[in-house]
Amino acid sequence: MKNISGIRADFPLLSRSVYGKPLVYLDNGATTQKPQCVIDAVDEVYKSYNANIHRGVHALSDKASEEYENAREKVRSFINAEKREEIVFTSGTTGSINAVAFSFGERFINKGDEVIVSHLEHHANIVPWQMMCERKNAKLRVIPINDIGEVLLDEYLKLLSSKTKLIAVTQVSNAIGTILPVQEIIDAAHSRDIPVLIDGAQGIQHGITDVRKMDCDFYVFSGHKIYGPAGIGILYGREKWLAELPPYQGGGDMVANVTFEKTTYNELPFRFEAGTMNFPGAIGLGTALDYVSTIGMEDIEIREQELLSYANDRLTGISGLRIFGNSVNKISIISFLVKDIHMYDTGMVLDKLGIAVRTGTHCAQPVMDRFGIPGTVRASFCFYNTKEEIDILGTGIEKVISMFA
Ligand code: ALA
Repeated sequence: MKNISGIRADFPLLSRSVYGKPLVYLDNGATTQKPQCVIDAVDEVYKSYNANIHRGVHALSDKASEEYENAREKVRSFINAEKREEIVFTSGTTGSINAVAFSFGERFINKGDEVIVSHLEHHANIVPWQMMCERKNAKLRVIPINDIGEVLLDEYLKLLSSKTKLIAVTQVSNAIGTILPVQEIIDAAHSRDIPVLIDGAQGIQHGITDVRKMDCDFYVFSGHKIYGPAGIGILYGREKWLAELPPYQGGGDMVANVTFEKTTYNELPFRFEAGTMNFPGAIGLGTALDYVSTIGMEDIEIREQELLSYANDRLTGISGLRIFGNSVNKISIISFLVKDIHMYDTGMVLDKLGIAVRTGTHCAQPVMDRFGIPGTVRASFCFYNTKEEIDILGTGIEKVISMFA
């Protein structure tokens, strides 16, 4: 891996200050900062070849279409999907899950059927299924978690039945960092011929992803969490499923032939890409994947685990600090409360010190309810963070305690 100052120099925003203090950006779970190469790639689209994709015979449209399809190939290769037809661009993880919830629901869910999620889900992997269940008179079942924030596999196995039509679980909890045993979850589901959707929003950026090895049926993620632009995301679906699903949205480019009597749909993956897509975002995402591949996903994982271990040691030394989510398998997230100080007070004081953390329920209210708390302060680290920044966080929390004591 490049040295840390070289890496940080790739991200222009990291060198800014906030309230006169050097920025300590520890809100990577919410969104990551962008390397200059990603900013340049998007800039380049608008400066030199902006034109609508798949729609023109002119040079600019050809170039934009080619770069967009190159980006699709980069995504395919990055997650090791078998075919480019299995890679659909969407607006993000939320857009991808809503698309599957609608299309899969329309095609495969009937009254009395069940979909299983876990208690660790982000609202984006709960609400679309609730909406679908309401529409189809189906039922949402939930895998419970233990006191350290791990899913209970025995309870999961008990939930599986002939009524189960789909499992939709997150790879990693955005709220408390738990890495779920997705392989066990997938294997058990497949032994009963039940397909599985994995929400990779908080997983893709922390290590190698291989959808074929994982053997999942759907895998979804967002560009902005892996150093790419916002407003672009991915729906990977095994061809055998995508070929069976009805389109989610109708419009231009997703059709083969349109008459007022009957419309036929385009081939995969375009059938699921209605309207003008966010092609600058897709191209930026392709560049972001090139960037992290150059850094090395194995090295990213190692570095982030070192930061997590350092942060654990530093923060557990602070009297009165409670960490929520203590699974052995965790990504670099520490979700905590300090004494009885309100999370927003902690967050606001840290902000004034230049430290950006997220406060609240993290769009995962059931996780907070499970722990009987209104929310947490969440510090989420990534490979461009440093031990010095963790020390600044530790000192900042100690300052919060001394102010509110
Ligand atoms: N899902 C994002 C987070 O965890 C926004 O903060």
